[in-house]
Amino acid sequence: MISSGKTGFEMKAIAFVTLLFLACGLATPFYLKPWSEVTLTLHWPQTFCNMEHCSPHLDYWTLHGLWPNAGMNCNNTWKFNISEVQDLKADMEKYWPNLLHPTSIQFWSYEWHKHGTCAASVESLNSQHKYFSKALELYKRFDLTKTLKNAGIEPSEQNYQFDDIERCIWQHFGAQPKIQCVKSTKGENVQELGQVEICLNTDFMPVACKKSKEDLWSRVNELLLNRFSAPSPFQVCDFGTPVHYPMVKENKTGH
Ligand SMILES: *[C@@H]1O[C@H](CO)[C@@H](O)[C@H](O)[C@H]1NC(C)=O
Ligand SMILES: *[C@@H]1O[C@H](CO)[C@@H](O)[C@H](O)[C@H]1NC(C)=O
Ligand SMILES: *[C@@H]1O[C@H](CO)[C@@H](O)[C@H](O)[C@H]1NC(C)=O
Repeated sequence: MISSGKTGFEMKAIAFVTLLFLACGLATPFYLKPWSEVTLTLHWPQTFCNMEHCSPHLDYWTLHGLWPNAGMNCNNTWKFNISEVQDLKADMEKYWPNLLHPTSIQFWSYEWHKHGTCAASVESLNSQHKYFSKALELYKRFDLTKTLKNAGIEPSEQNYQFDDIERCIWQHFGAQPKIQCVKSTKGENVQELGQVEICLNTDFMPVACKKSKEDLWSRVNELLLNRFSAPSPFQVCDFGTPVHYPMVKENKTGH
């Protein structure tokens, strides 16, 4: 005999289990855990723009974001409101620019929704003003442009040893950073310096950036939560490959 469908009891049972599942999911969403570390991420505008075909004309590292290690897009109802950070706007335009669309607030809004709403799970970052001002404060405290320059590492046509760059940053901040490169347009045996991550504890003191397992987990998280965005072209720099720290391109006439 072929059953013509599920019995009322089965339907109820399925509904109940489904509800239970949803309720548990809502009661303890894994992404609302308070974070234990936050990553200050800085990028080199010229490297970004070599990939994205923009023209930054900026000769200093700029902010990419301040990313807690727990969660993404934690509160979609908490909208970015530029009025809340009006007093920070000049600094944000200078140090946290949208390299693709310089006059748009979309980058800040994106970072707030994806990371800021999760960072807000701890008291020290529980408002938009606290989040953006802390990021700017950390950016200034860890003056990466100057740190590299003081060690003789400046944008150049010559390449650097990865080891020299890592050692410089590591020594200055007192903890192992994560340094990311992109494939260079100059060929296979050189990589382009792109992004530096400084990992911080809840007191905003540097701690060693963790490797592999956490990277994998955050990658999985990213894929699950953000499956419609393209994977990042940034990869942890290869230890043995020379590093190109590209010079800021001159303004082209008619550009
Ligand atoms: C999300 O943000 C709104 C607006 O700030 C707030 O009222 C609400 O409590 C937040 N929800 C959670 C789960 O934190
Ligand atoms: C944005 O923030 C300002 C200043 O705090 C506030 O007066 C305004 O109501 C907010 N706007 C929205 C849409 O929440
Ligand atoms: C390039 O042009 C921009 C905008 O016109 C200007 O702000 C910047 O100072 C120029 N940069 C250089 C290196 O000439």
